[in-house]
Amino acid sequence: MKGIVLAGGSGSRLFPLTKITNKHLLPIFDRPMIYYPIQTLVDAGIRDIMIVTGGRNSGDFLRLLANGKEFGLKHINYTYQEGEGGIADALALAEHFADGQKICVVLGDNIIEGDVKSAVEQFRAQEKGAHILLKEVTDAERFGVAEVDGGKVVGIEEKPKRPKSNFAVTGIYMYDATVFEKIRTLVPSRRGELEITDVNNAYIREGTMTHSLLHGWWTDAGTFDSLLRAANLVAQSAGREAEAGSPASAVEGTVRA
Ligand code: G1P
Repeated sequence: MKGIVLAGGSGSRLFPLTKITNKHLLPIFDRPMIYYPIQTLVDAGIRDIMIVTGGRNSGDFLRLLANGKEFGLKHINYTYQEGEGGIADALALAEHFADGQKICVVLGDNIIEGDVKSAVEQFRAQEKGAHILLKEVTDAERFGVAEVDGGKVVGIEEKPKRPKSNFAVTGIYMYDATVFEKIRTLVPSRRGELEITDVNNAYIREGTMTHSLLHGWWTDAGTFDSLLRAANLVAQSAGREAEAGSPASAVEGTVRA
């Protein structure tokens, strides 16, 4: 399975922090935001990774990440999103890279405590379709929200005023190669973007969407509040690891999340 990190967009909700840099280069405790979704893919055993960037600071990603040595990678692929076409538009740029294989997509501002190894393994064994990870939250109206019926996701609403459940659709998505055909059928939403929620609903209509629940904390980092929350969660986890004398912190002589 190949991995894709989506790190484009204008980051307008974090203005003026994003006036001079890309949102995904902002710090989350001791590392730039983009490190976390890359680590999520690497921890799941995915080593063939593409970063989709955009805007004026795309060159900074190459300088920061180079060929991924810090993550134990030999190479990282990069591509560039022109304009602000949305998450599904950014994903469309990875078609050539995916080359007919299954993909695991992580939004560049999604940070998790645990790992998605078992979900990735489950999806490897799934014949076709897609897999999403849900997380119970108290502010579901900020996210894509899953309607669950009889243990199945029967629909997803993007930022509904009255959420039908407390299950947010996290920004970690697994797709088969038909995702790119599905994106080609999309029309821009009211905010003028190709929505990833419309892609997921296409799989739901087809009857090939599966889901699992994400364990451990999860946060996005695209607003002032969630950016602060992300930093605090990472710092707390790092503190716990250091207290436990984890091998990672001992070897590196520094606190790592
Ligand atoms: C995006 C998706 C939304 C998802 C969220 C996860 O929202 O559109 O469905 O729940 O990411 O972080 P955004 O915050 O990018 O508008």
